[in-house]
Amino acid sequence: MTYFNRLLLQCRSGFEKEAAAEITDQCANVGIYGYCTLNEGEGYLIFNVQQSGDAERAIRDISFSELIFIRQWLVCGDCQTVAKEDRISDIQNILGDFPPCEEVWTEYPDTTDGREMATFSRKFASALSQKLKQSAFLPKKPRRSGNRLMLFVLSGCQMYVGYTQQKNSAPWPLGVPRLKFPKSAPSRSTLKLEEAWHWFIPKDEWDTRLAHGSTAVDLGAAPGGWTWQLVKRSMFVTAVDNGPMNEDLMASGQVTHATEDAYRFVPDAPVNLMVCDVVDKPVKTANMAADWVIQGWCQEAIFNLKLPMKQRYQEVVACTNVIAERFMQEGIAYELSAKQLYHDREEITCHLRLI
Ligand SMILES: C[S@@+](CC[C@H](N)C(=O)[O-])C[C@H]1O[C@@H](n2cnc3c(N)ncnc32)[C@H](O)[C@@H]1O
Repeated sequence: MTYFNRLLLQCRSGFEKEAAAEITDQCANVGIYGYCTLNEGEGYLIFNVQQSGDAERAIRDISFSELIFIRQWLVCGDCQTVAKEDRISDIQNILGDFPPCEEVWTEYPDTTDGREMATFSRKFASALSQKLKQSAFLPKKPRRSGNRLMLFVLSGCQMYVGYTQQKNSAPWPLGVPRLKFPKSAPSRSTLKLEEAWHWFIPKDEWDTRLAHGSTAVDLGAAPGGWTWQLVKRSMFVTAVDNGPMNEDLMASGQVTHATEDAYRFVPDAPVNLMVCDVVDKPVKTANMAADWVIQGWCQEAIFNLKLPMKQRYQEVVACTNVIAERFMQEGIAYELSAKQLYHDREEITCHLRLI
């Protein structure tokens, strides 16, 4: 059996079972079978493949952008125990089987215990990178389209050592874009919408798809964290909510407040973007988002699906099936992406548009 007989998958702590169901489904779709080992609350799980070579095939044949609950992934072997006195040599000893890599990242579980490894991880990555450049395992000038050596650190002596593809994995360590909370935003959920843009809209398209002067509807907008992001991009926003909107946002002159039911609201004219953060049944919100895109009320939609306590993965599948059926009935091609964002809690965020 080759060293690379596992996938290590990171997820939000408490969503290990959802991530397990998802990777099992995604792998089965490309003819890869295996079993998961996980402990709830650890923020990661292992998918053990049955067939030699299948873990490497998984990160090649499955598109990372289609994964919802999985924040980051890598191909690896057993968890390695390294000697405290000379960790780097122990790691170098197993790199013989590795494909060429461009750079090294060290990551750790996004849990209270895991985050204690952050400083060690950062320092260790720097020391290891230097050594691996000296030994020519890593190039002096990395390309951006090869493999990335990945260390997933559980403690100073226990770590998974593997690799992933730079272009088919999360572009940020731990799958978490670093965003700063803007002091003037009226609610913490503001970062959800900003993070959604980072995942769903390529940065070089922001100026056309989130263009200055374009229009948006924010359903369930109060107090205005998402509206704040739209206003910051100089967009004109209709904020739909019975609750009060932040006064500074209203004073911007870019916001119209409509005290109406989000599920009945129809815009006077088509808008560029619809966003929705209403807490309601996920299938109801999925149907409403499909209405907006099918009717041409918006060019693209970003909406949150609030998940139930149980059967969360099944609920997500039910919602994506509802959207698929709606577009199939209309004979319209569409693009749907979904992700459980770092700033999401018991929810996922979706992006829907025509193609
Ligand atoms: C999670 S909060 C939205 C927070 C907002 N995105 C922000 O960043 O400040 C959900 C909002 O949806 C509103 N809401 C719930 N059901 C609604 C409905 N049927 N129509 C309109 N607004 C609704 C609530 O009043 C609440 O303000």
